[in-house]
Amino acid sequence: MIGRLNHIAIVVPDLQAAALLYSDTLGAVVSAPTSLEEHGVTVVFVDLDNTKIELLHPLGTNSPVAEFLLRNPTGGIHHVCYEVSDLISARDHLEKYGARIVGSRTPMIGAHGKPVIFLHPKDFCGTLIELEEADPV
Ligand code: CO
Repeated sequence: MIGRLNHIAIVVPDLQAAALLYSDTLGAVVSAPTSLEEHGVTVVFVDLDNTKIELLHPLGTNSPVAEFLLRNPTGGIHHVCYEVSDLISARDHLEKYGARIVGSRTPMIGAHGKPVIFLHPKDFCGTLIELEEADPV
């Protein structure tokens, strides 16, 4: 059911330092910081050949990643995002297996302008999973 790994999201305490780490130390191509106010994050995209890394930093007073940073002050992997071709049928299939959705069962529009849902980390090896509906091929 799941397709490509769309991205891995890493929450960081210092976005500029993390961007430099990826560009200079690791030698990757990184974007300028982009503030996504409706998602409560500022993000730097790291472009790899086969996927993306998203470096996230809390933005505003109600950021969904602020608490994560309090629990993980040096930062850490926040979620992985897999692509699916049909998000509603993927959700229904997963719920049949007892998987819990974090937040809304109704897909929300995610940071890339595509429908997403999140799956509870306790049901998936301690990892928060984002499912994003892929572009039709
Ligand atoms: Co994501």
